[in-house]
Amino acid sequence: MINLFIKTYGCQANVADSQSVENYLVSLGGVQVVDKEELADLILINTCAIREKAEQRVFSYIGELAEFKKNKSYLNIGVIGCMASYLKKEILTRFDNVSFVFGAKDDLNILKEYLHDLIVKLETIKEVYEHNNIFEQDNKIKFELKKIKRIINSKNIINKNKNLSDLALGGIKNKFLELKQSFINIMTGCNNYCSYCIVPFTRGREKSYPSNILLDRIKKDLDLGVKEITLLGQNVNSYKDPITNNGFEWLMEQVAKLNGDFWVRFVSSHPKDMTIDLLHVMANYSDKLCAYVHFPLQSGSNKILQSMNRTYTIEKYMEQIDWIRKILPQATITTDIIVGFPGETEQDYLMTRKIIEQVRYDLVYSFIYSPRKYTKASLMEDNCPIEEKNRRLQELQTRQMEICFENNLLTVGKTFKTLVEKRLTNGKLLTRTAGNLRVLYDGNDDLIGNFVNLKIQSAGRANLVGSLIK
Ligand code: SAH
Ligand code: SF4
Ligand code: F3S
Repeated sequence: MINLFIKTYGCQANVADSQSVENYLVSLGGVQVVDKEELADLILINTCAIREKAEQRVFSYIGELAEFKKNKSYLNIGVIGCMASYLKKEILTRFDNVSFVFGAKDDLNILKEYLHDLIVKLETIKEVYEHNNIFEQDNKIKFELKKIKRIINSKNIINKNKNLSDLALGGIKNKFLELKQSFINIMTGCNNYCSYCIVPFTRGREKSYPSNILLDRIKKDLDLGVKEITLLGQNVNSYKDPITNNGFEWLMEQVAKLNGDFWVRFVSSHPKDMTIDLLHVMANYSDKLCAYVHFPLQSGSNKILQSMNRTYTIEKYMEQIDWIRKILPQATITTDIIVGFPGETEQDYLMTRKIIEQVRYDLVYSFIYSPRKYTKASLMEDNCPIEEKNRRLQELQTRQMEICFENNLLTVGKTFKTLVEKRLTNGKLLTRTAGNLRVLYDGNDDLIGNFVNLKIQSAGRANLVGSLIK
């Protein structure tokens, strides 16, 4: 048995890729997933390059893994994902404990074939190690390895019968099967080139996957008992079936028409491609399509939006917020905001604050701008001191927490259908509403992965507390 450990950083696209690689390896037989690095024979690190801090976290994690390699010299460590797309050389030179690097914009199927090959090698090496008990006797190992190479060369290591296009999609991880959640990349890459963003460079050009493969995948997941499907793309609204040219609205409708009691979510939408039609489809199938819209604003200032190459104005954005409120009055709306973009003045920042007051988002993911290689914004003049950027972020987050709390208070006394996700360390069950609000509940484990109706008893800043309605 080869023990596999996958560490995933970054967005849900990475979560889906990790799931997909893991499902593939487990489906080969002879591979099992472990939850501790020290048990692993193969460690995959799926990386994120979105901000410098995200990269620093990955670098220090890779460094920590050297310790495990000391005790098990055949341990293979692979770095995959967005950092691997453009830092291959740096990773390999800086860390001699890393065995291979494979970027996110390369075809996942090539990685899978490589890993297939690697698993065969690892199985043989591990067998020899365990059989001869020669963990730390390097000379003997070298001799054994020569023998192993000969064995490997005589094995047919690529399984040509696998349906490769099927493998490109996210699947269900055992852990996720328990949670009854499935994350599915309906597309990869991005063509938008927001001036601050590295994703078009790490994930490459936008490419949608054929809907027949996606719908088959979703049906299979539903047959396995999945209750929540999340459709993923950097900009799902620009999904186009490569065969029929059908768009995202059509795809959502097809998913909603599938049989079963399940929920569908999607992230992210780009305001430039959001349509009224999509909101109508969501309203028509509101039992399945969750009234939850993640709608990234980035900035409330037209000057900054233009410099970010977001291609919408704040007036257009607010008009779309009105559509959402009218067509899906129960919708929760969340957003992403960057503060301290090059050229952002106090006045620009205050415009962003104003939008927060007007929209009253249910959740805001906010970040300080981080210059990224290859991007246009990294060449822009930026003379705002970091202390000032920190202050803006702090103030924005403090105010947003109050707004979340005020929104949460409005839910007290209301009843929501929720999906039970997991048991938290504080002993409560974590459930989520269709709008992705967190509701805690004292209940039994057998409810995990099921829908329950909860009446909200009280509200805090981050969580609501509910009681069961039969
Ligand atoms: N495709 C998604 C976003 C993916 S990245 C979308 O367009 O909505 C998630 C968020 O990270 C972005 O919305 C943005 O707010 C933030 N982000 C991206 N690049 C960044 C950078 N260089 N510095 C700070 N935040 C950044
Ligand atoms: Fe980055 Fe913009 Fe593409 Fe989102 S839409 S991934 S922010 S370039
Ligand atoms: Fe990070 Fe790549 Fe996602 S850079 S945010 S993991 S697309």
